[in-house]
Amino acid sequence: MSTQAIPKVFADAEDFMPINGTDYIELYVSNSKQAAHYYKTAFGFQSLAYAGLASGLRDRESYVLVQDKIRLVLTSPLHPGTEIGRHIDHHGDGVKVVALWVDDATKTYNEAISRGAESFMEPKVEKDDDGQVVRSGIHTYGETVHIFVERKDYKGIFLPGYQRWESSYNPSSTGLRYVDHMVGNVVLGEMNKWVEFYAKVMGFTQIVSFDDKDISTEYTALMSKVVANGNGRIKFPINEPAEGRKKSQVEEYLDFYGTAGVQHIAVATDNIIETVSGLRDRGVDFLYVPETYYENVLDRVGEIDEDLKALKDLNILIDRDDEGYLLQIFTKPVEPRPTMFFEIIQRKGAQSFGKGNFKALFEAIEREQELRGTL
Ligand code: FE2
Repeated sequence: MSTQAIPKVFADAEDFMPINGTDYIELYVSNSKQAAHYYKTAFGFQSLAYAGLASGLRDRESYVLVQDKIRLVLTSPLHPGTEIGRHIDHHGDGVKVVALWVDDATKTYNEAISRGAESFMEPKVEKDDDGQVVRSGIHTYGETVHIFVERKDYKGIFLPGYQRWESSYNPSSTGLRYVDHMVGNVVLGEMNKWVEFYAKVMGFTQIVSFDDKDISTEYTALMSKVVANGNGRIKFPINEPAEGRKKSQVEEYLDFYGTAGVQHIAVATDNIIETVSGLRDRGVDFLYVPETYYENVLDRVGEIDEDLKALKDLNILIDRDDEGYLLQIFTKPVEPRPTMFFEIIQRKGAQSFGKGNFKALFEAIEREQELRGTL
């Protein structure tokens, strides 16, 4: 692993693309109504907003869910032959939009386009009685897009066109707080291309890289580089498959998703033991690591605040870097195809991504692949 300080050229330069945080994540799904119920019941999201037939929209139905700073939009088409339907047919349920909250969506768009981004949506002003939002968008890897959202002149519930979604069914939160990072899987040979895209088009810097010597098991390997924006709130690890004896998890993802796409959404909690206990009670399935993982884990990570038995009972993984430690766990894919999943992470100083767990984790994924017959 190589950790690089922010190069001086970037540190001194004006951040031409300031980003306040993740605004929302939109998934195209085959049944948004039922998916919304799942994310409320299993993950503890709350109903926030709705757009569809009942709000005057004719072609799609979207449910917006919230948990602290995380907003998920779940969208399904209402008719055959739509772009959304084609997306679902090709990829299964998956992330279409990673929306970023900016102060000026027009300037952000112009900066990105002038640096070579491909336009997805020219700056567009959307208004209702609560004010206006400006959105613009660019393409990134695969069919995924970034939409820039400027909402300083808006006081409505979500975006113009959405109405408040009142529901009598309000399961409690599981303590998920914000999006920590989002990982993209790209095709063989394209990791550097996308790292360069984020550097050139969006002013991100590469903060860390792993190669196949860091991330490999007997069978599979991958390479990964992490890019982050100026204030570090947006972190995108980019993975590509590496040569292994059997099919790697990234190749499996690409086979089933059909192209590059979002592999996992990592969400932060302040108490991973409570959060994961809650998620397990509600039926969320996690990857399993064998008990032997816990036999010598403290030799590797040193002293931790949590009771090791509680972590072991919940199968939570631990890793340490120079700045502290982190606790993390990965769900199984949340749709029929072995594609997107979630990570739950609690950082206790560590700013890294759990490299020390990769081997144990990938062996866990390989056991799942074995069961699916896709290893
Ligand atoms: Fe992650």
